[in-house]
Amino acid sequence: AKINFITKAGVEMQLEAASGSVMELAVNNSVPGIDGDCGGVCSCATCHVHVAPEDWAQTGAPGDMEKDMLEFDDNASEFSRLSCQMSISDELDGITLKVAN
Ligand code: FES
Repeated sequence: AKINFITKAGVEMQLEAASGSVMELAVNNSVPGIDGDCGGVCSCATCHVHVAPEDWAQTGAPGDMEKDMLEFDDNASEFSRLSCQMSISDELDGITLKVAN
């Protein structure tokens, strides 16, 4: 799937992978602001992204653990996801994610 990232500085990056998590894709390609400090176990929120509203149906809502974690982030919005909790598959093709922090 191709995934578009928009960094805090407004730089667009289009990346592609067939599997793994969105956080791993971002970290492997040095997307600024996606750090993945906890290694993808939903406990740091350094992989926080805002999904483009029109792509929300594609990504789906956060799980309970993810929601709890997002509550601690001042930049959380109704379109927030932790990208380590998003598995890459064809279903995510073409989505746009804004780096939250
Ligand atoms: Fe830590 Fe996603 S990498 S919550």
